[in-house]
Amino acid sequence: MTAALTIAGLKLDFYGVHVLRGVDFAVPAGSFTGLIGPNGAGKSTLFNAVSGLYRPKAGSVRLGSVETTGLAPEKLVAAGLVRSFQLARGFPKLSVFQHLMLYGAGQPGENLLAAMLRSAAARRREEELSERAFGIARRLKLDHVLDNPVTALSGGQKKLVEIGRALMADPKILLLDEPMAGVTPSLTEQIADHLIALNQDGLTICLIEHDMALIKRLCAPVIVMAEGKTLTQGSFDEVASDIRVQEAYLGRRH
Ligand SMILES: Nc1ncnc2c1ncn2[C@@H]1O[C@H](COP(=O)(O)OP(=O)(O)OP(=O)(O)O)[C@@H](O)[C@H]1O
Ligand SMILES: [Mg+2]
Repeated sequence: MTAALTIAGLKLDFYGVHVLRGVDFAVPAGSFTGLIGPNGAGKSTLFNAVSGLYRPKAGSVRLGSVETTGLAPEKLVAAGLVRSFQLARGFPKLSVFQHLMLYGAGQPGENLLAAMLRSAAARRREEELSERAFGIARRLKLDHVLDNPVTALSGGQKKLVEIGRALMADPKILLLDEPMAGVTPSLTEQIADHLIALNQDGLTICLIEHDMALIKRLCAPVIVMAEGKTLTQGSFDEVASDIRVQEAYLGRRH
């Protein structure tokens, strides 16, 4: 197996509390990996540590064969590791298109001065970005709302803009933390279909999700975390029938 992402012995404390206590797993290249576990298991914290928001106390993160532990988020984005973020409430007037462009333009390597001087290179870069934004909007079926303000979108469309914005960075691996949370079942299906198509086109995805039917349908392998550690991994059926996993969801027995 070639691993897109390898996490080994990852530990992280918050104010002396051991939140990550040794996380070990690999995300196979090209896979649609699921990350599950009870509330408070440390899943979101793990994504934050892997994507450079928090600095781990110990352990390592490798992207492909490159050691990336402790790199800043923008360096990780440039290296191809991208996580989706909820849409900021700060830019209510921006259209969908502007949102996508803003995120693309925020990539490392952009030369703001060149953009201001409107050099030929900057214009070409802008054309490239807008082509990519149109392509991503078409694929996510957002092309008919490109000029609408993001605030006017449905909840599901907003989720798609979040995914689109992450795609603007041209990721090799996409980390998604509950991208379907709070949307209706039919929109969940639409988002799932988009994710399946992206994965089939070669994008490696690691998805945190509490909806087990969705995890069963989309993900292999499935990694289970509990109490800041990797508990087990395997196919959905393997981990779901594991007594330790069932106990972790029921709460620790005393
Ligand atoms: N910034 C922080 N400061 C202090 N403690 C934190 C912080 N972020 C998370 N924690 C704690 O770390 C633990 C793991 O939280 P985390 O959000 O990673 O869990 P999770 O597995 O994503 O849970 P959920 O499924 O509910 O989203 C929790 O006990 C939480 O209270
Ligand atoms: Mg979480």
